[in-house]
Amino acid sequence: MATIRRPVAVLVSGNGTNLQALIDAAKADGYPARIEVVISNVAGVRALQRAADAGIPTLTIPHGDYPERAQFEQALLKALESHRVEIVCLAGFMRVLSRKFLSDFPGPVLNIHPALLPAFPGLHAVRQALDYGAKLSGCTVHFVDEGTDTGPVVAQAAVPVLDSDDEAALAARIRVQEHWLYPLALRLVAEGRAIATGRRVWSGGGARTEGLSLRNPG
Ligand code: GRF
Repeated sequence: MATIRRPVAVLVSGNGTNLQALIDAAKADGYPARIEVVISNVAGVRALQRAADAGIPTLTIPHGDYPERAQFEQALLKALESHRVEIVCLAGFMRVLSRKFLSDFPGPVLNIHPALLPAFPGLHAVRQALDYGAKLSGCTVHFVDEGTDTGPVVAQAAVPVLDSDDEAALAARIRVQEHWLYPLALRLVAEGRAIATGRRVWSGGGARTEGLSLRNPG
């Protein structure tokens, strides 16, 4: 049976290593999503080049071109609509989306954050974990709500914090986990298997999917 591939937009602002992981995952037979468009709010970033190299349409919508956030978000929504996007993945996208945007966009919006939420939300999460003295950190894929990194958790992966770690070393260890976790979480969402009931997200499907975030295939 042919796979249904749900159209996804990835929103970026920078390097795009998570975008790359999603692009690579979406090449696989049977992956239930395809990257339809990559949108950046910053011109000339590496993520746009990664998309172009993969033959994926790109758009730059600089937030500074719009006097109000509402107008910037209208432009985003128009672009998503014109590409018939059903799922949005934020991947290093450095703008907070409003409640209105989230209610106007009809599908799920996902984000990846480099900490084990609810610990260390917001900016400089890796540094926050180090400064706090945490012994474990990691990454979280969550549904986006109107807060900053507060939406229901879809999947998480943990890494140890080592005595020798500086911010770059810990960030690099976390990023390795991000690159399998985000494609996995998008798969669950695209297949309709990640259902939020209040704060809890059920990744139904029994033993094959439950607790997947505890396993690291890499
Ligand atoms: C990642 O650490 C992600 O968790 C955070 O922003 C960073 C993006 O990195 N939201 P990249 O642009 O995907 O390389």
